[in-house]
Amino acid sequence: MITSKVIAHRGASRLAPENTLAAFRKARDAGASWIEVDVALTADGQAVIFHDEQLNRCSNGHGWLLNHTLAELQRLDAGSWFAAEFHNEQIPTLEALLLWAAEQSINLNLEIKPVIGREAETVDALVIALQAAQARHNHIASQLLLSSFNPLALAHVRAALPTIPRALLTEAIPADAVLRLQQLDCEGLHFCAELVDQAAILALNNSGFSVRAYTVNHTAAADALIAMGVNAIFSDIPDLAITSAHIT
Ligand code: G3P
Ligand code: CA
Repeated sequence: MITSKVIAHRGASRLAPENTLAAFRKARDAGASWIEVDVALTADGQAVIFHDEQLNRCSNGHGWLLNHTLAELQRLDAGSWFAAEFHNEQIPTLEALLLWAAEQSINLNLEIKPVIGREAETVDALVIALQAAQARHNHIASQLLLSSFNPLALAHVRAALPTIPRALLTEAIPADAVLRLQQLDCEGLHFCAELVDQAAILALNNSGFSVRAYTVNHTAAADALIAMGVNAIFSDIPDLAITSAHIT
């Protein structure tokens, strides 16, 4: 269960290139206890941490991530696009991130971002990475929350890893959110903060579901969401001050 009110979005992504170990270290240094990352599939069936389907924005690579092997991806510079000082940053493997998180006692929200049609393989890669990490750190699974916009990915991961909690990602909170969470056996909903709907949050609160909002980088907005019943916010600023007294 997430007790922290701020989840570091792709690490401390205001201070370092998103979804890199540099961003995760800076989130840890800022006091984050939860970090959200994006899990993607390589051409050779490995799970890596990267947000976009295309390599161009966050690395010096080009084209579809899914068309590249892990070895090819690890030769890329995933930091210079942000600032020259990060030129040594690589695209992390999920296994490396899990090992680091276990050693740092950091909790992770793994957002599963499959290319459409590759849901099962993406989940399989996640499971393999988790099993490898568990061989060294047996408790790492207890530090995880899984999430996805993709209901098929949620169904696959429910079958593969039934004891790890899951959340559904949406943009606006759907009118049938409670029913969808029940059907998907999810513990919560992650929605876009700009599309906030107080009545929908209340309905989820009253049904016992967690509600988290992305991406919030201002204290006033975070406070307003927490006061409305949002349990936690995703922020690019992991030490964003939250002053709302609402306890969820
Ligand atoms: O998991 C919350 C948020 O990260 C979802 O949107 O596009 O930042 O992955 P995005
Ligand atoms: Ca994400």
